[in-house]
Amino acid sequence: MTDSITIRRPDDWHLHLRDGAMLDAVAPHSARQFARAIIMPNLTPPVTTIAAARAYRERILAAVGGPEAGFTPLMTCYLTDGTDPAEIARGHAEGVFTACKLYPAHATTNSAHGVTDIRALTGVLETLQRIGMPLLIHGEVTDKSIDIFDREAVFVERTLAPLTRDYPGLKIVLEHITTAEAAAFVTEADHPIAATITPQHLLINRNALFDGGLRPHAYCLPVLKRETHRLAVRKAAVSGSPRFFLGTDSAPHVVGAKESGCGCAGIFNAPFALEAYLGVFDAEGAIDRFEGFASEHGARFYGLPLNEGTVTLVRESVMVPERVGEGDMSVVPFLAGTDAGWRFAG
Ligand code: NCD
Ligand code: ZN
Repeated sequence: MTDSITIRRPDDWHLHLRDGAMLDAVAPHSARQFARAIIMPNLTPPVTTIAAARAYRERILAAVGGPEAGFTPLMTCYLTDGTDPAEIARGHAEGVFTACKLYPAHATTNSAHGVTDIRALTGVLETLQRIGMPLLIHGEVTDKSIDIFDREAVFVERTLAPLTRDYPGLKIVLEHITTAEAAAFVTEADHPIAATITPQHLLINRNALFDGGLRPHAYCLPVLKRETHRLAVRKAAVSGSPRFFLGTDSAPHVVGAKESGCGCAGIFNAPFALEAYLGVFDAEGAIDRFEGFASEHGARFYGLPLNEGTVTLVRESVMVPERVGEGDMSVVPFLAGTDAGWRFAG
C-alpha cells in the first residue's frame, strides 16, 4: 500500500474565488494546494473586460499574500451576447485572458448575463478558434421543460455536437462533467476537446442530496446524478486519458445562503481538494495516474508549461472540520465531519 505520494505541483482548472471578504477567506486554501487556477468570472457584475480581469487578478494576488505565495490566477472572460471579439483577442495577446467562459443564460449562480443563443456568438467563436484560446463551457441546457437531471446530456446532443462540427479547430473544455454521455462524447470526439471533473461528482451521487433529509451542502450545478453516471465519470478520471483533468469547481457560499428556502448551488471543496481526489485514485487502484490528472493533462491541453516543484500527501487520518472561516464568512466544506484519509504535507 502506498503511504505517501509526491507529485508535480498541481493546478485547478475551474475555481470560483468570489470577491471582497469571501475572496480573502477562501483564496489561501487554493493557493496552498495549487500552483495555478482558472478563475471563474461570475462575479456581480461579471468579469467581461480586460480592465476588470486585471483588477480582479490584483485582488486575488493580494488575498493570497502577493506574488511570493507562488499562486498564479489565470483569468477568464465571461461571454455575453454583446462580447466584442476584439476585446478577447487583445486580452489574450496581453496575457490577461487565458480562456473564455460560456454560461448559457440563467444556467447557474450569477449567469443572468450569460449567452442566450450560442449561434449569435459567431465572431467570438471564430476568433477563439483562430487564436487557439480555449472556450470553457457550462454544458447544460436551460430549457425548464427539460428534466434537470437530463440537462447536460441534452446539451451535449443539441449544442455541443453541432458546435464541434461548425468549429472543428475550436479548443473546448466541457466543465464539471457529470454524466456518462458527457464522458463518452469527450472520450470519443474527433476534436480538440477536454473535460474537468470535480471531487464531488467522483465521490457522491444524487442520493447524497436526500440522505435522511434535504442536504443543501451537497447541492451544486450541474446537480449530482445517479450512480451509473458517477461510475462513468470516475472511470474517465482515472483512465489516464489526457482529455480529463482536475477542476474543483469549488464554489463557496456562506452557510445562510445554503441553508435557506432557496439555497445557492455550489460546494466548497478547496480546503481538502487534493485529498478528496487522491482518495478516488487510491480506491480505483490508479494512484500512478493521479499526477497526470492533477498536474499534467490540463497544462498540456491549455498549452502551458508544467509546474516546477512538488507536493506530497501522506496517508493519515485527518478530520475535515464542520466549518471553515470565521463569523460571517463561515462556510461548510465538502466532506465536513469525515476523515479525508490523507494529509497534505506541502
Ligand atoms: C457555481 C457558483 O456558485 O458560482 N455553482 C456551482 O454549483 N457550481 C456556479 C457554477 O459553476 O455553476
Ligand atoms: Zn463553476
